[in-house]
Amino acid sequence: MVCLGNICRSPVAEGVMKHHAQKQKLEIKVASAGTSGFHEGERPDKRSTSNAMLHGIDITNQRSRPVRKDDFENFDLVFAMDHSNYENLLALADAQYHHKIKMILNESHPGENLPVPDPYFGNDGFEEVFQLINGACEIIAQKLKNNEY
Ligand code: 4NP
Repeated sequence: MVCLGNICRSPVAEGVMKHHAQKQKLEIKVASAGTSGFHEGERPDKRSTSNAMLHGIDITNQRSRPVRKDDFENFDLVFAMDHSNYENLLALADAQYHHKIKMILNESHPGENLPVPDPYFGNDGFEEVFQLINGACEIIAQKLKNNEY
């Protein structure tokens, strides 16, 4: 799960994906990272943490890290939160891994290429971010269960 800073959106995606994986009894590895290292080592933004907690999902133990080239070898699916993350991931990954890189909201809104809006500079939008990510992760878990990737 990848966004820019790995403190607002992708930590929520990591926590929510782990939640749905557990619910579906999937044995998968889930992680998140940022296309930038601006916030490396930091905990998720408090606004993301408290919003996730309202839904019973604890993301406080996560720490921001940048995407590494070996992530493309080590993970089968790489979900970008927005277009800029998507383009940056394609630029970083060798061509043989490009098929793994997807816009996360195409799972819930196929073919629309919608972004998860970046909530960092506003003070609201965290619940909308949660709902969008939750809808996509529910579908991702179902597709993994059905071997649809
Ligand atoms: P995220 O949000 O990509 O969802 O973690 C942001 C976090 C930090 C910045 C921008 C977006 N920043 O410019 O520092």
